Amino acid sequence: MTKKVVGVLTGGGDCPGLNPVIRAIVRKGIDTYHFEFLGLRNGWLGLLEQNTLPLDVNAIGGILHRGGTILGTSRTNPSKSEDQMQKAIANFKALGLHALIAIGGDDTLGVASKLHKRGLNLVGVPKTIDNDLSATDVTFGFDTAVQIATEAIDRLHTTAESHNRVMVVEVMGRHAGWIALHSGIAGGADAILIPEVPFTVDDVCNIIRRRVIRGRNFSIVVVAEGAMPKDSHDFVTQSDEKDSFGHVRLGGIGNLIAMEIEKRTGFETRTTILGHIQRGGTPTAFDRVLGTKYGICAIDLVAQGQFGQMASLRGTLVVGASLEEAVSKPKLVDAASYEIARVFSG
Ligand code: F6P
Repeated sequence: MTKKVVGVLTGGGDCPGLNPVIRAIVRKGIDTYHFEFLGLRNGWLGLLEQNTLPLDVNAIGGILHRGGTILGTSRTNPSKSEDQMQKAIANFKALGLHALIAIGGDDTLGVASKLHKRGLNLVGVPKTIDNDLSATDVTFGFDTAVQIATEAIDRLHTTAESHNRVMVVEVMGRHAGWIALHSGIAGGADAILIPEVPFTVDDVCNIIRRRVIRGRNFSIVVVAEGAMPKDSHDFVTQSDEKDSFGHVRLGGIGNLIAMEIEKRTGFETRTTILGHIQRGGTPTAFDRVLGTKYGICAIDLVAQGQFGQMASLRGTLVVGASLEEAVSKPKLVDAASYEIARVFSG
């Protein structure tokens, strides 16, 4: 009997936990459902170029603890043109795929949802360190990024205190400030600036001054890369060049704030931009377990023929959720969660 072939791809920015997801899909898919697997290299580009690798039990051995993705990734966006969509559909058939599991954030899963609407058997897995995907409580990779940022804040704390300085820590988070919020709370930051809540430098300086009155001659400010001052409507960017999903490269808000803080408060101020360190290296135990549960759920969805669905964490359970709902709008930091951070401001 010929076995059904299931494709697997990882798209968008890489993220700790991708390999545990791939491993779980393939292990359960082979043992329980007797599927065959084909990895598509470098995200949607692998489908457009029919660039594949066989995924058997050997290929996924020893990858549980490894960061990155054994499949490679890219920000290729086939939904940019009808020609490319046609090509993706034709190649899906040419490769003999029964189904395709796309592991990605809103961009990658947006393409998956579109291809599902065009009749292909697609299932998704929610990945992003930013945690900004709807229809799931948490994306995998977020916990690791928060852990890395928290460790950095802890380290900056001791040097800030020794030198009586202000330390500004810029973390990732384009539209959603989840990493800034959670690492800021965990690391005891004095000000947490997120894209959802425009800030003023004066407010930040007042927090720093209030701390001085309490005898605290140093402060930690955590800022998400997408945060904006109240009087601005533009991201601070490293370049205007856009990727194929239309995103500019963010970075630099931390330096701007630091300069202003130093000017207005007289405190020596330094900036640390954590950048891709937040995305690299080994996943936390939480992300390995969550990634494993997501992988198991994704292959179960394929076996049950529940296409157009994504593995999703709801409370303590991993269940199917609509791909369309997941990509309909970003999941932003809510007012109640941000209120917790404010309790510790100054
Ligand atoms: O989408 C995840 C993310 O890490 C964002 O927080 C960040 O803005 C972006 O990716 C960086 O992308 P790149 O690796 O393409 O520079």
